Amino acid sequence: MLIAITRKVSNSIAHCELTHLERQPVDLELARRQHRQYEKTLEGLGFELHSLPEEPRLPDAVFVEDAAIVLDECAIITRPGAGSRRLEVESVAAALRPYRDLVHIQPPGTLDGGDVLRVGSMIYVGLSRRSNSQALEQLRAIVRAHGYEVTGIPVGGCLHLKSAVTQVAEKTLLLNPGWVAGKNFPALKLVEVDPAEPAAANALMVGSAVIHPAAYPRTGERLEKAGIRVLPLDVSEIAKAEGGVTCCSLLFRG
Ligand code: GLY
Repeated sequence: MLIAITRKVSNSIAHCELTHLERQPVDLELARRQHRQYEKTLEGLGFELHSLPEEPRLPDAVFVEDAAIVLDECAIITRPGAGSRRLEVESVAAALRPYRDLVHIQPPGTLDGGDVLRVGSMIYVGLSRRSNSQALEQLRAIVRAHGYEVTGIPVGGCLHLKSAVTQVAEKTLLLNPGWVAGKNFPALKLVEVDPAEPAAANALMVGSAVIHPAAYPRTGERLEKAGIRVLPLDVSEIAKAEGGVTCCSLLFRG
């Protein structure tokens, strides 16, 4: 069974963390409609949806990806780099407990799931303002027994590693070369974002398709040309909160 954990948009989303973006008004009702469409898309792709209730006091709580890394063998509950986000993990851990053994990142480690890109048995960890080398070492120790190799990747110019690079097919990544160097991924094929769309590298791979922001059609065309089926979604309000399409779900086999 395919499971998608999501969480409803907080009514306080306008007070979210922002690192690289100027604050803009977020249309809450539009954000909720867009998020519901995102959930429906996942359901349409065969996922059983576990949509957690809104957390009104946690503005960034819709971004459930940052709270956990779900592997086949276990789930790692993170310790988010922004102090305002630390309380988000408890409810995500509770939602994952029926499916996986849980292991927690401990202080002084900090890790956001948005900084973790798994491709097969490789786990790339963005060393960003949110995620540090102590957490990387903890993650490495947790997953070593399961055969994963963990590599740190410097990230600059964007919030998370997955703002800069995401997986779009078994051996293909979508990447903004200005934010992360392609040489970090020598064994993989790379599709670069259109230069006019620097924030377009965040795509959510779901089976043989990717969910991708409709705001970036030129990059969408590049993906289609590379043989990848693109499902464009309008996520304008989530983007104003410095979130992307990977951030809004945890996808795994139950
Ligand atoms: N607003 C998303 C984040 O900063 O974590």
